[in-house]
Amino acid sequence: MGVSGASGTPYAAAVLRGLIEAGESVDLVVSRAARLTLIDETGISFRDAHWQDDLRNWLALGADGGPGAFQVPLDDVRYWPAGDLAAGPSSGSYPSRGMLIVPASTAGVAGVALGLSKDLLQRAASVTLKERRPLVVCVRETPLNGQTLRHLVTLDDAGASVVPASPAFYAGATHIQDLVDFVAGRVLDAAGVPHTLYRRWKGGLGGARASEG
Ligand SMILES: Cc1cc2nc3c(=O)[nH]c(=O)nc-3n(C[C@H](O)[C@H](O)[C@H](O)COP(=O)(O)O)c2cc1C
Repeated sequence: MGVSGASGTPYAAAVLRGLIEAGESVDLVVSRAARLTLIDETGISFRDAHWQDDLRNWLALGADGGPGAFQVPLDDVRYWPAGDLAAGPSSGSYPSRGMLIVPASTAGVAGVALGLSKDLLQRAASVTLKERRPLVVCVRETPLNGQTLRHLVTLDDAGASVVPASPAFYAGATHIQDLVDFVAGRVLDAAGVPHTLYRRWKGGLGGARASEG
């Protein structure tokens, strides 16, 4: 899982919790720019040397910033510094089922579409494509310019799933966390990871209002 420097660190936290709760082991890369969005959105400084403490504090946060809302074990999480191009996920021979980039910046989208491999996140994504493994790109920007749209088409053509951070309201959202969980759930759907993060559409209108009563 790669976290790049787009707004939306609650999406990343929700996907990470979902992966851990599904029993997946996770290799985590946090880009340099993502540290800025994390500080901005949560107040947490993500430090290589203290990643477990910082990750634990981050994953405990709900989307409204409530402390200690979630507790997840980190035993199956491996963390790799973004500058470490000799890290395991740099190689196609490193065992991996695929990669999720949540959120994905437009710069990250460009880097992966063009194969720049400027850091471990981009290199691991390029490796994922060359090994024909699932790559899910949760892009977060609005509006999108033509350049980014073309990069997204390139990624789609290369076999990636482009899953924009685009919350829906039909699942009966009443809190910010519900909207975050909807996006996180669609990311996990694209990766084939089971979860119960949102209520699925079952047909028939008015489901969201019916749930109020
Ligand atoms: C607070 C903050 C919010 C940002 N939000 C976005 C965003 O929503 N989408 C985006 O594409 N870039 C956003 N950026 C810009 C990226 O961080 C920047 O393009 C960076 O180079 C991305 O690098 P990375 O892909 O290596 O993480 C934001 C930057 C900051 C500091």
